[in-house]
Amino acid sequence: MKPIGLLMREHRLIEQLIALVNLQVSEISKTNKADPEFIQAAVDFIRTYADRTHHGKEEDILFKELATKQLAPEHKKIMGELVEEHALARRLTGNLVAARNNYVRGSEQALPEIVHFMQELTKLYPGHIEKEDKRFFYPCMEYFSKQEQDNMLRLFYEFDQKMIHEKYQKVVAEMQKAAGQALGISSERPQQGI
Ligand SMILES: [Fe+2]
Ligand SMILES: [Fe+2]
Repeated sequence: MKPIGLLMREHRLIEQLIALVNLQVSEISKTNKADPEFIQAAVDFIRTYADRTHHGKEEDILFKELATKQLAPEHKKIMGELVEEHALARRLTGNLVAARNNYVRGSEQALPEIVHFMQELTKLYPGHIEKEDKRFFYPCMEYFSKQEQDNMLRLFYEFDQKMIHEKYQKVVAEMQKAAGQALGISSERPQQGI
């Protein structure tokens, strides 16, 4: 498999989440109520999977390797746009979290804000994914030899392996913070042989 095969497979799951966000927007317009638990789960997906795991491989590996190549102006331009779109997705997600928290606290302004930021995310991702799938990924692979592509795929798998540990280290750190005391779990080392 080419490294872009892995990224394109991840795009398909991101599209499924975006479809659910679209459904939630329709639901809000019918009921005039948001579902804070849905938003929390969607934000967790976007931050952990779409951003850290997926954009992470694009930015920290693919784009980084591409930056060492003599890119055609068109590809350089698209890569700049893609990085900006990743940053925009992060800002929109942060804004959605703030609106969701305000909604839970009872703010009346929060519902239209939730709808706005969800709609912005559902507009951003399909265009971004299409740009990568149809205009960027395949021509990008032409800059790499077969060996470089194989090496990139290996780096992608190594990157993915770290994600589950990083995610739950963060979860525990947040739980410790919420508990207001250091439980010492994150500093414990697994015993030999386990
Ligand atoms: Fe991307
Ligand atoms: Fe992508």
